[in-house]
Parts: sequence; C-alpha cells; structure tokens
Amino acid sequence: MIRAVVLISGRGSNLAALLAASLPVEFAAVISNRPQAEGLEHARRRGIPAIALDHRNYAERTAFDAELMRHIDAYRPDVVVLAGYMRILTEGFVAHYADRLVNIHPSLLPAFPGLDTHRRALAEGVKIHGCTVHFVTDRVDHGPIIAQAAVPVLSDDTEATLAQRVLAQEHRLYPMALRWLAEGRIEIVDGVARVSGEASQALLVPVSGPHGTPA
Ligand code: GRF
Repeated sequence: MIRAVVLISGRGSNLAALLAASLPVEFAAVISNRPQAEGLEHARRRGIPAIALDHRNYAERTAFDAELMRHIDAYRPDVVVLAGYMRILTEGFVAHYADRLVNIHPSLLPAFPGLDTHRRALAEGVKIHGCTVHFVTDRVDHGPIIAQAAVPVLSDDTEATLAQRVLAQEHRLYPMALRWLAEGRIEIVDGVARVSGEASQALLVPVSGPHGTPA
C-alpha cells in the first residue's frame, strides 16, 4: 500500500474513478482549493478527510502553496495526485514533491498543454485526441509520460462529445497508472517513464458506433 493525497478543484470525476478502482492505495486526504468543489463529496462519502483550502485567502501564490504543502505533508504521502487541480504550482511545490507528483491532462501531450484542449483539438482538425498521465515538472502540463489513451475524433464531434469520449478514458487511464505507481513498477530513465513488465503504456480506443467503423 502506498499513501496518496489527491488535489482537486471541481467535479472530481477522476477522483471518483480512482476511489472506485480498488487500488492498493490508501487515500489519506483530498484537498480542494475551491471550497465548493463537488469532488469533496466523493471523499466525505468514503470517510476520507476532505479539506477545503481557499486560495483566495492568500495574497501570494507561494504563501498558498506553502500552506498547501503543510496540509499535504501532515498525511506523509508517497504520492500526490492532481485530479482536475486547476492551479499553477510554484517551483518550490514541484521540487518538494519531485518524482511523486502526478497529473492527468486531457490531451495527448506534448500537444495542447494548457486549457480548452478539446476546443483546440477540434480547431486544429486533429483526427486522434486523448489524455495523458504524467509526472509533474515545473513546466505546465509537461513531464515524463506514464500512460496515454487515444480516441478518434469524429467528423460530427462537438467540444462536449469529444470531452465525454476523452473523459471516459481518463477514468480508465488514471487508475491504471496509479496502480503501476503503487506496485513500484515505474522508473524514470533519461526523463522517460518506463513501466516494468508492460510492453505498452497506451490505451487505444477504436472508432465505434453509428458514425464509425465498428471495432
Ligand atoms: C479532467 O478532464 C482532467 O483531465 C483535467 O481536468 C478535468 C477534471 O475533471 N485536468 P474531474 O474534476 O476529474 O471530473
């Protein structure tokens, strides 16, 4: 068992997927920078400490991150899991949790770091899109890639339909990646994350349904 603290900002569907996955992970606490985050409910329902730390009460980003670190470290986590945590992290924060800070991002990195990934993917006309679980470095949405899931972009996709297709894969990908981490199977070699015993770190979702070739 490893111990994890999860950081969220909102809905918390990735958190819910992680909690439901029966992972060899003790979820020690969930912390949100937004007091109203619905995701905190997922933690409360399971009796996991759900902490709201409102970033608006801190004038400086460094002061907020310092307080956040104090809360996180009280739980002595092996890993800090960002699950829809929508704050830019300070360098000090990232350094403090080096190699034990992971994130999920709704694009196939290094394409589309930042916000509005689905809208931008549609605007670029990419035909394959997806999501990435990666270790966090001090470059936003960058770092050794642990796993990726790819989905087709369909000709009649809207931002909402594409987001939904990607999110369904996020809910498979993050538990898979966290399990590997918990099993101690991930190694970073020359900036690349490798998982022992896995030939592939990818989930590929074929086109299916009324507008695509059946899988
Ligand atoms: C997800 O798309 C995640 O990839 C991104 O923010 C969204 C969070 O959704 N970082 P949820 O709060 O997990 O439902």
